[in-house]
Amino acid sequence: MASTSRLCLILFGPPGSGKGTQAKLLSKALGVAHISTGDMLRAHLAAGDEIGREVRSIMESGGLVSDQLVNRMVEQRIEQPDCRNGFILDGFPRTVSQAKLLKDLLAAQGITPWVVHLDVDYNVIIARIAGRRQCPSCGTLYSVTSNAPTVSEVCDYDGSKLVVREDDREEVVRERMKGYERQTAPVLDYLKQTGYRVWEVDGADGSPQAIARRIEDLIRSQGFRPEPAGAVKK
Ligand code: AP5
Repeated sequence: MASTSRLCLILFGPPGSGKGTQAKLLSKALGVAHISTGDMLRAHLAAGDEIGREVRSIMESGGLVSDQLVNRMVEQRIEQPDCRNGFILDGFPRTVSQAKLLKDLLAAQGITPWVVHLDVDYNVIIARIAGRRQCPSCGTLYSVTSNAPTVSEVCDYDGSKLVVREDDREEVVRERMKGYERQTAPVLDYLKQTGYRVWEVDGADGSPQAIARRIEDLIRSQGFRPEPAGAVKK
């Protein structure tokens, strides 16, 4: 039985499967932190700092940055006060080496994670990524087809002009998908072999809110009781 006091939920799935969308909804609903290694790395890119300079060309070409760097980032991040109730991992672990580090980190804290595998058809993914827009200020995700902002290309919350991610160009998406199949998909077997509970969730069966409610119900059915938090809006 996984820990019911401190949640670790691993959102696992290919690029465009909805990990970031689900993590944002669920972190609000469950009152836990959202840890996105992709967002953390993009913040370094935007800051133009040393890490940003180190990872820019790798990210722009759709490759994975070094395990050493990402592991260090996650190790430090989960010690932050907002992770006290727990955290949702979005985009980590992505290699077996990252999964091994996570296993040790969680074991040391007595946490057994749950894993949600978001399964989405390749063609749906390609269409989703082509339509993705993101607010550069608050991070809100939109889709020009299924979740468009009220005013075209403008964030509903802070009025910023929405952006297309550098790595959402078609040829880069193909590289990211290949990398996923080669380096990341095998991590799911590793997580299963480790004994973690893995839920298969159809990531294309309904709106983001409907899918988040399904995941939230699964988590609550395991006895997780977060400190004050609101449920996903019905
Ligand atoms: P990262 O940012 O993690 O990208 P990713 O895994 O490729 O995933 P995406 O962000 O593309 O997709 P998502 O699954 O979050 O889908 P989303 O919710 O946006 O990583 C980027 C890069 O950073 C990597 O390539 C690598 O270089 C580096 N990196 C990051 N982590 C690393 C690690 N651990 N190790 C090494 N390198 C690392 O949804 C997509 C679209 O679909 C959106 O427009 C959304 O609105 C729409 N959508 C979502 N759900 C639905 C739905 N139910 N119905 C209709 N539309 C939907």
